[in-house]
Amino acid sequence: MTNFVGNKVVLIGAGDVGIAYAYALVNQGTVDHLAIIDIDEKKLEGNVMDLNHGVVWAPSRTRVTVGTYEDCKDASMVVICAGAAQKPGETRLQLVDKNVNIMNSIVGDVMKNGFDGIFLVASNPVDLLTYAVWKASGLPHERVIGSGTVLDSARYRYMLSEMENVAPTSVHAYIIGEHGDSELPVVSSANIAGVHMSRRSEEDPDYNQRIEKIFEQTRDAAYHIIDAKGSTSYGIGMALARITRAVIQNQGVALPVSTYLQGEYGAEDVYMGTPAIVDRSGVSRAIELQLDEHEQERFNKSFNTLNDIKKEIFG
Ligand SMILES: NC(=O)c1ccc[n+]([C@@H]2O[C@H](COP(=O)([O-])OP(=O)(O)OC[C@H]3O[C@@H](n4cnc5c(N)ncnc54)[C@H](O)[C@@H]3O)[C@@H](O)[C@H]2O)c1
Repeated sequence: MTNFVGNKVVLIGAGDVGIAYAYALVNQGTVDHLAIIDIDEKKLEGNVMDLNHGVVWAPSRTRVTVGTYEDCKDASMVVICAGAAQKPGETRLQLVDKNVNIMNSIVGDVMKNGFDGIFLVASNPVDLLTYAVWKASGLPHERVIGSGTVLDSARYRYMLSEMENVAPTSVHAYIIGEHGDSELPVVSSANIAGVHMSRRSEEDPDYNQRIEKIFEQTRDAAYHIIDAKGSTSYGIGMALARITRAVIQNQGVALPVSTYLQGEYGAEDVYMGTPAIVDRSGVSRAIELQLDEHEQERFNKSFNTLNDIKKEIFG
């Protein structure tokens, strides 16, 4: 458990994702102080002014400032959205080398200034970069969280909710594994408004096909959005704001964040998306869902994909 008081967040990287997150945070009135750091200082100044001009309409006051690394000293969270973004057709894994170097440099500056809070990483490939931030920071793994499959699960819940004509909050379903092409839906334990999805798919083969198609649309959503508008931002911005609220308000909610695995699903020494209890200590515990045989096979492939690259980078 960290000793921080108050609720100051330092955001590093104020591009499309970072600013969407900042906008969600200000609108939700979650923090007292949001300090933002970016190497593009001119654009950052404009964004900070713009955000402050909306604060009067927010549920509570957030001080939004142009930050420096000194701000990390008394911050409860450092949220990293910096880095090269995915280009059209580029996979998240191809981004890895560029962004590991950026993470190492950022984390060095954060830790030099006495940071003692929770890291939340969104930059891609998020599972590997969360691992990089954990290694570079020297913090306990519980205090380094990746956004993982929170966004993917939100997309999946939304699409299933449209099919069933219920609110997405009544869809209880997780995407787990790599935030990327090898991720998987856990249908065996999912339910919509209390009705098990696995039972419906056993009874109706069409249903099975429909939900597999919805999963494929979920998995490939980022490619379509990037192709259409250059980046994905609002969905991830709101997902990051949700994780931030869980930490700042010590909520103890289950969210499918990227978490350090120590034997869950047979995986070790990697960060991967799985439901985990998020509170003021970061991740207080990972939840291991019961997978059926097919899901376990898919998970193993996802683990191998990440683990192979992790070994190449970190040995
Ligand atoms: N985890 C998720 O679900 C998810 C979803 C969408 C995007 N992303 C990832 O988030 C990251 C940001 O995406 P984006 O669309 O905002 O990109 P962007 O290019 O719009 O923004 C990146 C920002 O980082 C800044 N930056 C680069 N190096 C920096 C450094 N050393 N210090 C401080 N700032 C630095 C840039 O100036 C820029 O403003 C990418 O890696 C992207 O793939 C993750």
